[in-house]
Amino acid sequence: MSDTVKYILDETQIPKHWYNLVADLPTPPPPVLHPGTMQPVGPADLEPLFPMSLILQEVSTEREIEIPSPVRDIYRQWRPSPLYRARRLEKALDTPAKIYYKYEGVSPAGSHKPNTAIAQAFYNKEAGVKRISTETGAGQWGSSLALSGAFFGLEIEVFMVRVSYNQKPYRRALMESYGARCIASPSNETASGRAILEKRPDHPGSLGIAISEAVEVAAQRDDTKYALGSVLNHVLLHQTVIGQEAMLQMDMAGDAPDVVIACTGGGSNFAGISFPYIGQTLRGGRKTRILAVEPAACPSITKGKYAYDFGDTAHLTPLTKMHTLGSTFTPPGFHAGGLRYHGMAPLVSHCAELGLIEARSYHQLACFEAGVLFGRSEGILPAPEANHAVRGAIDEALRCKAEGKAETILFNLSGHGHFDMQSYTDYFAGKLTDLQYEDNELAMALAGLPSVPE
Ligand SMILES: Cc1ncc(COP(=O)(O)O)c(C=O)c1O
Repeated sequence: MSDTVKYILDETQIPKHWYNLVADLPTPPPPVLHPGTMQPVGPADLEPLFPMSLILQEVSTEREIEIPSPVRDIYRQWRPSPLYRARRLEKALDTPAKIYYKYEGVSPAGSHKPNTAIAQAFYNKEAGVKRISTETGAGQWGSSLALSGAFFGLEIEVFMVRVSYNQKPYRRALMESYGARCIASPSNETASGRAILEKRPDHPGSLGIAISEAVEVAAQRDDTKYALGSVLNHVLLHQTVIGQEAMLQMDMAGDAPDVVIACTGGGSNFAGISFPYIGQTLRGGRKTRILAVEPAACPSITKGKYAYDFGDTAHLTPLTKMHTLGSTFTPPGFHAGGLRYHGMAPLVSHCAELGLIEARSYHQLACFEAGVLFGRSEGILPAPEANHAVRGAIDEALRCKAEGKAETILFNLSGHGHFDMQSYTDYFAGKLTDLQYEDNELAMALAGLPSVPE
């Protein structure tokens, strides 16, 4: 029997296309609406914010979209990413389950985010854009876009959620090293930021607020566009290189997953690894269970409402139908900053409504415990976001042990935690607690959902 640990593909095996799940869905996702007219938005409505090539990807129903060769060329800096068989973790858990993980922390920024940052920078550059504004939670997305700005000669401005800005000074230093500008959000630089600071000068920020600031900046200048690190269809599309490579690597291992697991913030790394598997099932192929793992302090899929909502706090974005906690919901400042978003990607939400995926939530202590066990077994210390996927995978492996089943588990290790060591230090010092959101905060945010005629 083979005892291979790493399954490595050749650079020529980097996917040539992104996979678009919309082509295989039994029903299309609900349309994006203009908040003024409540009518579906057209490409022209989105043009102030995004280059047309990305808008066309956003609404595409083609199954495959070719990856431009300059993007594939840059992907070669870290892709194909390795797939590991977690043999040492299996031993530590004494489980009959086989655990595999796709490791996206090998990218220069340390996560899956450059898979779309490079693509978005490429299309913006091609459209003659000079400057891109964006938001970042944990700093992974901001670093990835900053990196892409350096590769394509674009100015990058990043609004970083204040609580993460304070928790992660070295993420900011990395963005600045790549040549980007990084601003703590809410900031005094935008009307939406100033409005929030007026009410609460010590506001910890949220992804919803940072998105408002970045959108506002992009809408004001002709040479500036906006980029989002998750949630939108085209972002999820770009991440499907993860699942396509994983399929080839699982074939190399002579195995196939019974369950595919990933953490969900806005849904992009989850979509990246799972959509090719969901598509395979929908086309009549092997059936695979798909499990999304989210933070219990910001549980959009498991506790949110499936409704039309804004993507940002200041209501500058169109309305999308998604699982949402309400656009004014401010999650508590738990350490997985990249998972502190009030909504879930409309495509992931649609899959949940169609019963194509399952979801569960965990509090942060259980996730850090899993991450530490993973680090001590496999050597890689995961990002706090990725610890949610690790927790999910470990619990599935323990279920297999209890049931005496040798199932195959595949999860996405979306990033390493080398810039998140303060959170591990706090965890070991006993300073981390399981933060709860306020029930009345959630009720108020949900009460403020826009009313959309059925
Ligand atoms: C390492 C890592 N994993 C996961 C996420 C969550 O984002 P998404 O749900 O878009 O994959 C983030 C977001 O910043 C992240 O940094």
